Amino acid sequence: MDCGRIMRSGLGHNAGLAMTLPIDEARLWASLHELAAIGQYRDEDTGLLGVNRLALTDADAAGRRQVMRWFEQVGLAVRVDRIGNVYGRRSGLDDSLAPVLTGSHIDSVPTAGAFDGCLGVLGGLEVCRALDAAKVVTRRPIEVCFFTDEEGCRFGTDMLGSAVACGRLPLELAWSLVDRDGIAVKNELARIGFLGEVNERIGPPHAYVELHIEQGPVLAAEGFELGVVTGVQAISWQELTIVGKSAHAGTTPMHLRRDAGFAAARIHVQLHEMIASGRYGAEMRATMGRLELAPNRVNVVPGRVLCTVDLRNPDDARMADAERDVAAYWRSLAEELRVSIEARHTARTASVTFSAEVQAVIAGHLRDAGVRHRHILSGAGHDAQEFAAICPTAMIFVPGEHDGISHNPREYSTAAACARGARALGSTILTLAS
Ligand code: GLV
Ligand code: MN
Ligand code: MN
Repeated sequence: MDCGRIMRSGLGHNAGLAMTLPIDEARLWASLHELAAIGQYRDEDTGLLGVNRLALTDADAAGRRQVMRWFEQVGLAVRVDRIGNVYGRRSGLDDSLAPVLTGSHIDSVPTAGAFDGCLGVLGGLEVCRALDAAKVVTRRPIEVCFFTDEEGCRFGTDMLGSAVACGRLPLELAWSLVDRDGIAVKNELARIGFLGEVNERIGPPHAYVELHIEQGPVLAAEGFELGVVTGVQAISWQELTIVGKSAHAGTTPMHLRRDAGFAAARIHVQLHEMIASGRYGAEMRATMGRLELAPNRVNVVPGRVLCTVDLRNPDDARMADAERDVAAYWRSLAEELRVSIEARHTARTASVTFSAEVQAVIAGHLRDAGVRHRHILSGAGHDAQEFAAICPTAMIFVPGEHDGISHNPREYSTAAACARGARALGSTILTLAS
């Protein structure tokens, strides 16, 4: 990573630009809510309106078209690449220079709020609107972008579009991933009109900076107004196929069963016991987010299960220990219960450390503007983690309400907090693009 480029261009943070861009809080808030109306649903559990814009569905396509209209309204030159990533480019004084990139994603989990990802994209858009209002032309071009299937919720691999753009995943592999109905990424891109023609591999930007809701409780609980993100923890996703034997629930003695459902339950319990042991550090997380039993009938012993295991840890060595230990447990459990357990990694990323220089630019602006902030490691995955491999990268976190809940319709942040985040983003982009 060439962190030197920022410093060589004389770009320590510029106090004169601190947090002064005319970010329009009401306009940003209105855009967030207009986008949230696309793919809106009434959540049965909370009674709240939530967002369901799974990647490459009709709702995602409608959201994409809306954001592209906004990009075009502010004169951004829009391009779509072969994995469906969308870039809006604002010219600089010298368009031969590498751009400053900002962005995130607008696809969502099926039970989302209005902010995850969207704040980063619409925050970048608002920065461009504010630059226009202030009649500012930067030296470098600025690009606002959104990436395909960041959530990984539909096709099984998170950061899909940004991982392809930054070279971690090959395009053909990404195109060939299928959803639960066997529909491939490439087919869906073509169907919704987002199989672009632009080469998906992006040249290294000058820098990448992403605004995002924190999705956790830390900033609000500690009274901070914004967070400077130091990096992203390691993520491991595995899909397990457990095969036993379906049998009659009334007649099959317990000792003769090969119950795949029971095996999944034991695996789930072991994940929690593993966390409780403390062996993998206090920050270790484990989740079984998907669990499908077959035939899933009241009087049939489950003969087959598909389930997922999501592990997170800020420490790569501890993550490796956890992966090794769960695999050993699954092997011994398979023998004990006379089932087969096949595990397949669907996503695996090491922990990522963001650029100290970009963090310093962000923190410098916050300090000058008197914004209460702290440095914080991200518990969630982000497109920024892919860009960190090819250019100086960092993120800004906006605190959430309700204990920072996310991937839930209760996800919420205030208009003032979002605007504060966009102001910090704008100042940072101005410095980086000067
Ligand atoms: C992205 O939302 C993640 O799963 O961390
Ligand atoms: Mn996100
Ligand atoms: Mn998310």
